Amino acid sequence: MLVAAGLMPAWAAVGAASVLVVLRLVALRFARPPDTGTQVGEADALAERHSTLAQLAATAGGREEASQLLSAVAATLPDPFMVLDAHGIVILCNEHAVSAFEVDPTGQHISAAIRAPAILEAVEQVSETGEAQRVDYERRVPVERRFEAFVAAIPKAPPARGGTLGSPALLLLLRDLTRQHQVERMRADFVANASHELRTPLASVLGFIETLQGAARDDAKARAQFLELMRAQAERMSRLIDDLLSLSRIELNVHLRPTDTVDLGKAVRHVVEFLEPLARERGATLELSLSDGEVFVKGDRDELVQVFQNLIENAIKYAGSGGRIEIFAETSGTARGESTVSLSVRDHGPGIPAEHIPRLTERFYRVNVQDSRSKGGTGLGLAIVKHILNRHRGKLVVKSEVGVGSVFTARLPLAAPDSVAQPEHKAPNNRPKAKINQ
Ligand SMILES: Nc1ncnc2c1ncn2[C@@H]1O[C@H](COP(=O)(O)OP(=O)(O)O)[C@@H](O)[C@H]1O
Ligand SMILES: [Mg+2]
Repeated sequence: MLVAAGLMPAWAAVGAASVLVVLRLVALRFARPPDTGTQVGEADALAERHSTLAQLAATAGGREEASQLLSAVAATLPDPFMVLDAHGIVILCNEHAVSAFEVDPTGQHISAAIRAPAILEAVEQVSETGEAQRVDYERRVPVERRFEAFVAAIPKAPPARGGTLGSPALLLLLRDLTRQHQVERMRADFVANASHELRTPLASVLGFIETLQGAARDDAKARAQFLELMRAQAERMSRLIDDLLSLSRIELNVHLRPTDTVDLGKAVRHVVEFLEPLARERGATLELSLSDGEVFVKGDRDELVQVFQNLIENAIKYAGSGGRIEIFAETSGTARGESTVSLSVRDHGPGIPAEHIPRLTERFYRVNVQDSRSKGGTGLGLAIVKHILNRHRGKLVVKSEVGVGSVFTARLPLAAPDSVAQPEHKAPNNRPKAKINQ
C-alpha cells in the first residue's frame, strides 16, 4: 500500500511551491464554514496546522522535504484525500481513502475506487475548466456512508489537458458526513415521535368534545365521565410537554458543568418522602438505607432530584404491587483516583429482557408502550436521567433479570472536599418539579 509514502518520480519533482499550493487548497477546503460548533473548532485547528506546515514547506525548499511534507499532511488529514494526475490516475492517497473505498487506488484510475458518476464527472469537469466543485456522494454498501467531495485543480501544475502522466493535476478531498446525517435523522425522528405522542391524546380529546357536542349533549352521566377522560388526556399532554422542555433545557446546558454542592442524602430523602404516598397507593414499600455520613456531589440539585425521582417512580410503576424497593448508596474510588457515589434503586419486579436494556435511555423507548402509557409514562424519563448524569460526568448502569427484578444505579463523582464548605445553595423547600403520574 503506498498510502502517502512512495510518491512517483514526476510528483517528487514538483517541489515546495506546489506543495504550498496543495496545502493552501486543503486549508481552504476546511476553512469553509461548517454546520456545527465543533466542526468550526476542528476546521480552525486544521487550517492553522496546515498554514504552519505550508510555511515550513515554503522554507523547506528541497523537493525531497516537500514531498515528504505533503505525504505527512495527507496522512494527518482526518478525511479521505487523493491527488490525481490529469488523466484521473491516483498518484497519492491517504489511509482514510484506502479504508473508505476498501481498495488502494494508487496507480489506478479514480474509477477503481469511486464509481459514483457525479464524482467522476466532477473530476472530468475540473480537469477541463479548472473550476473547483463540491459534490455529495452517498455509498450504500457495505454500510451506508455519506460524503461531500471537493475536487479542485492544483494551480501551477501543468495544464490538466496536456499534463503528463503522473504529474499532480487535481486533488480530491472527501468529508465524511455520515455522523452528521445520522444526527439529523435522529432529530427528524424525534420531532416525528414527539408530534405523534401529542397527537394521540389530542385526537382523543377532540373526539370527546365532538361526542359531548353531539350524541351525549344532554347526558349528564356521560358528560362527567368524558370530562374525566379528557382531563387525563390533557394531563398526559402536559406531562409530555414538561418532559420535552426538561430535555431541551438539559441539552442546552449539557456543556456547562454544575457548580453547586449538593448533599446527596438530603436530596434522596426528599424524593423518597415525596413519593411515599404513590408507593403506598401502589402497595410498594420504599426502603431507604443511607450511611450516617454526609455525601456531597457537585451538581444541580433540581436535576439530581429529577434523576432520583424518575428512577424511584419507575420502580414503583413497573415493579408490580406489593414489592419492596430498596434505595441505597455506596461510595468507591475509580482507577483514576476519583471517588464516586452510586445511588441504586433495586426492585423485585418482573425485570427487563436483556435486548431492551441498551435502548432504555433512547427517547420514547419503552418495553411496553401500552403499559407505560397506562401508567402515565412519556418514555422520556430515562433519556432525561441519562442527559442529566452526562452533564454531571456521571453514568447510569442498569442491571436486570427477568423474574428477579432490576437495579438502576446513578453513579456520580464526589465533590472535592475543599468545595464542600457551603453545601446546598438552593432553598431547602425546593419541591420536585415533575408531577407524579397516578
Ligand atoms: N424498574 C423498572 N422495571 C421494569 N421496567 C422498567 C423499569 N424502569 C423502566 N422500565 C422500562 O423502561 C421504559 C422507559 O422508562 P422511562 O424512560 O422512564 O419511560 P416511562 O416511564 O415514561 O415509560 C419504561 O417504559 C419501562 O418499560
Ligand atoms: Mg419513567
